[in-house]
Amino acid sequence: MTGATEQWSSRAAFVAAAVGSAVGLGNFWRFSYVAGENGGGAFVIVYILAAFFLIAPILLAEFVIGRRGGGGVLTAPANVARESGRPSAWVAIGWLGILAAAIIPAFYIVVAGWVLAYIGVAASGALAGISGEAADALFSSLLADPVQVLIYQNAFLAMTFAVVAAGVHAGLERVNLILVPTLFLALVGLGIYAASVGDQAAAIDFLFRPDWSELTAQGVLAAIGQGFFSISVGMGAMMTFGAYAPRSFPLPSSVAMIVVADTLVALLAGLAIFPIVFGHGLDPASGPGLMFVTLPVALGALDAATLVATIFFVLLFFAALTSAISLMEVPVAVMCERGFVRWQAAALVSGVYAGLGILCALSFSTFANVHPLGFIPTFEGRTWFDIFDFIGTNILLPLGGILIAALVGWGMVAGLATREADFGDGWLGVLWLWLLRTLCPVAVGAVLIVNLVPA
Ligand code: TRP
Repeated sequence: MTGATEQWSSRAAFVAAAVGSAVGLGNFWRFSYVAGENGGGAFVIVYILAAFFLIAPILLAEFVIGRRGGGGVLTAPANVARESGRPSAWVAIGWLGILAAAIIPAFYIVVAGWVLAYIGVAASGALAGISGEAADALFSSLLADPVQVLIYQNAFLAMTFAVVAAGVHAGLERVNLILVPTLFLALVGLGIYAASVGDQAAAIDFLFRPDWSELTAQGVLAAIGQGFFSISVGMGAMMTFGAYAPRSFPLPSSVAMIVVADTLVALLAGLAIFPIVFGHGLDPASGPGLMFVTLPVALGALDAATLVATIFFVLLFFAALTSAISLMEVPVAVMCERGFVRWQAAALVSGVYAGLGILCALSFSTFANVHPLGFIPTFEGRTWFDIFDFIGTNILLPLGGILIAALVGWGMVAGLATREADFGDGWLGVLWLWLLRTLCPVAVGAVLIVNLVPA
């Protein structure tokens, strides 16, 4: 029996799991700080274009490989390639995915740990009426305490382990079907509220009025990387979820729902965070801590600050949990296929995450001045945390995405891909195939080359 024999019990469960994977810290924490570092508007426009024209087609291709090939990331691409008479070297997609699935969680659990810590902070009442400066000091004091940070991130990891170990039905489905709709309702409320307390005009200006002179080649790569990260594409997480989808689930409309939902959440999060940045004179380019300094101020200004802030961080924590589940599921599905007992596979993978997570956690204290790859210009001044994030998000995901696009666009026998993607003979299928064959590999490839190959 292989992992591929497990199936979602409903289409809603499939879409909720995929949306749960996509909507996470990437939309709140990462989108806001990367948009802030890259000057806002122009970055946001490139991000939106990339999400719909580069990432969405590749997401559909991932689902197609997963459902057609079946099994984990080392099985599905190889099966799809073999069926169309292509070499088994396409399994490289799976190995890249496994590498990314080791690297991305190492920093993801750190940020999720911060969120967990803030649930307690919020519940204690410490955020009520907090000023920008006090919020900054509070966050710095958390970072300066590595023991506390490590406890929180490993507590988060333990909960992720528990869900993944429970399996697809008892674990992934149950958690996603409850949490995903709840999160949405809460977010709409927060967006409406933030509009009323901060500098909404400055935020809209920053997010939507492009200043193209702010956009660098690095910024374009950052926007594309953020697209892959936020929609969970390029690593095989969606491929693994696609393998649990029966033939009867329509894929294109699922992709549309996932991409629209994820993009909306990112923009709503931006509209909740940036009014506070500008309303309180904070620096939008201040880095990974941005959300942890702004949101407390936003939430703390409320009448019912303690209650609302606590609820919000709890929801954020669950959003992170449903994403982390999908990260861990990639190596676990591969191991289950190879005869591991599910909980033991999940335990081993958790061990790896815990170990690598230490390097990322300490990047804000003990190792703050350690720049392990400082001799390479691209990595100058970057800590372990920064390096894991950069390699995972800006290199491995786009690279995986190019290969996924190529396998479905060029590798699969003509007609098979569009049929498996439920397109029939319509023009949408033709457009999709064209995007996979040309625009996706060329655009993503060019951006990677410009950024990574020394001139
Ligand atoms: N998309 C998630 C977020 O925005 C993170 C994530 C979950 C992810 N699974 C993934 C990123 C797979 C890349 C690949 O928080």
